[in-house]
Amino acid sequence: MTYLETAAQFYSDVAETPQVGLCCVQSSPLQLPGLKVPLQMQEMNYGCGTTVHPAELSGEPSVLYVGVGGGLEALQFAYFSRRSGAVVAVDPVAAMREAAARNLQLATQENPWFNPSFVELREGDAFNLPVADRSIDVVAQNCLFNIFEPADLTRALQEAYRVLKPGGRLIMSDPIATRPIPPHLQQDDRLRAMCLSGALTYTEYTQHLIAAGFGQIEIRARRPYRLLDVQTYDLDTPLLLESLDSVSFKVEIPADGVCIFTGKTAVYHGSEAMLDDKAGHILQKGLPVAVCDKTADKLAKGFPNEVLITDSTWHYDGGGCC
Ligand SMILES: C[S@@+](CC[C@H](N)C(=O)[O-])C[C@H]1O[C@@H](n2cnc3c(N)ncnc32)[C@H](O)[C@@H]1O
Repeated sequence: MTYLETAAQFYSDVAETPQVGLCCVQSSPLQLPGLKVPLQMQEMNYGCGTTVHPAELSGEPSVLYVGVGGGLEALQFAYFSRRSGAVVAVDPVAAMREAAARNLQLATQENPWFNPSFVELREGDAFNLPVADRSIDVVAQNCLFNIFEPADLTRALQEAYRVLKPGGRLIMSDPIATRPIPPHLQQDDRLRAMCLSGALTYTEYTQHLIAAGFGQIEIRARRPYRLLDVQTYDLDTPLLLESLDSVSFKVEIPADGVCIFTGKTAVYHGSEAMLDDKAGHILQKGLPVAVCDKTADKLAKGFPNEVLITDSTWHYDGGGCC
């Protein structure tokens, strides 16, 4: 059995018998006014973090959701789009599609605004998305791509890039590892399927996004996810996994490199009223300006005594202090 077949078998099993404790089932899902999440759907919250960012969902975007699970995030996306077929959710595991269909039917009973036609469930997988090139505004996946080995992650990201319209967004939430996961865990196909041993480091993860061609990446959240302990996982020291929420934009890569926003700001504190770095950034004295990590580095090196760079907050959604 390949590791992808093990994952498919695993998700077929947990579609039929929800596994409490897998991924985020202990935390309550994103609450929205007038949205009721059926208990069965909540028990199948096999994601980490969230991919549903309201700021990305104005203008009735088309959404392609990869790896539907119990349908929770497909329902949350439908909450914003509220039209037939606006959310297409793809999964190769028949039992998972069936569970999602059942849960969405339950959601219909509890949410007068919801119509099952708002979410179309399709057979398909992350390496072969059943939609045309450049046809989708938002591709989302939660806690799936971390399962993939690096070469397959590259394939999945290329496929997401293919189907996105220019300017479209890839919204992801995945575990990342605070240090490389040792080979004996990486090669454990069941742990990988459980989102516990395939995670890349932050740098490896963002490098894959850059290599796929995304010109701008925004980090929306970074939180502790799991601690792999010494005894259970045969480690020398405990290994912390974090969950990382990100939005990657299909825009041209700037000549000087991809912009990754992690919540840093630059604040000018020199003797003038403002600083113009002649590279598109005007900093007014004392006022923080959101900058990407690349610009933060350049400003820190170019103006070491006049510009303060604040730490990454690991939350960036357009900047501004209020
Ligand atoms: C960890 S669960 C996440 C489910 C859902 N995203 C959530 O947040 O609850 C992974 C999901 O991806 C599906 N899956 C497994 N292999 C896949 C593949 N190659 N392509 C697309 N989906 C896949 C599984 O059936 C399962 O529904």
